[in-house]
Amino acid sequence: MKFLVASCVFMSAVAAAADPIIIAHRGASGYLPEHTLEAYAMAYAMGAHYVEPDLVRTKDGAFICLHDIHLEGTTNVEEVFPDRAREDGRWYPIDFTLAEIKTLQVHERIESRFPEGKSDFEVPTFQEMIELIQGLNASTGRDVGIYPELKGPSFHREEGLPMEEDFLAIIRKYGYKGPQAKIFVQCFEHEPLIRLRELGSMVPQVFLLGGGASKWFDEEGIAEAKKFANGFGPSKTLIERDPECVARIHAAGMVIHPYTMRADDVGRGYIDMSDELKTFFEKYKVDGVFTDHPDVAIQFLKN
Ligand code: G3P
Ligand code: CA
Repeated sequence: MKFLVASCVFMSAVAAAADPIIIAHRGASGYLPEHTLEAYAMAYAMGAHYVEPDLVRTKDGAFICLHDIHLEGTTNVEEVFPDRAREDGRWYPIDFTLAEIKTLQVHERIESRFPEGKSDFEVPTFQEMIELIQGLNASTGRDVGIYPELKGPSFHREEGLPMEEDFLAIIRKYGYKGPQAKIFVQCFEHEPLIRLRELGSMVPQVFLLGGGASKWFDEEGIAEAKKFANGFGPSKTLIERDPECVARIHAAGMVIHPYTMRADDVGRGYIDMSDELKTFFEKYKVDGVFTDHPDVAIQFLKN
């Protein structure tokens, strides 16, 4: 019953909110190392409507902003803790305390972007990220939202640190409670989104889909997803392959926010990122986009 109430209340909110949204993907990650407070602040200053943290957990249960369930892709963990990899040769945040992770330096994963070794960046906690955005909202008078993604919830559950209950406690503590809250909770796994509804969460939820998961885009799949999500966050290619999916999703009262628009890696066949944005907003009629370059997307909307 709570599922239905959350879906119905949110649908009326969505129907009234026609303006497209720009989601800063891992912050302004085109310019500063992804998932750092600096990248989130830059995204905010560029005018993003929502800022995205990906979330994983530490050994002592903290939620940290990191894209992967491994540390070596964007930190210097190999140098600082050379003997702490698992047998598979990978370093897992869930094997480290928050204090240990705070000793690491973050670097950008894409080499052509912010150079490694310049300046100092640390791994933020989810709470630090929220407090930054809410602090900026207080100081600027804007109302920028957060768009957190639960990364690897089934992995975390298997490791004995499920995510849903503790995540919900954090967002509630910071005031993200009802269907109008400036938050979208996103996940590639649908069970955690169902679990959050069972726990009474009423905030908007988005179901992420990779490039090969289009079975969710037929009418039956959309109806099923609507039981636990208010929208979809698909790979761009899913829409390009099946542009009519947007109309079906809108007919169900749901939104669609594809990922990822990158000025330094535009999709095939587009002149530049603005050309790609034009296609997605004007031809496909999506409700928002994830982007590493929020300044380009905001400028596009202004034009
Ligand atoms: O969350 C939307 C998009 O970010 C999903 O892909 O791998 O960048 O988290 P990823
Ligand atoms: Ca993400």
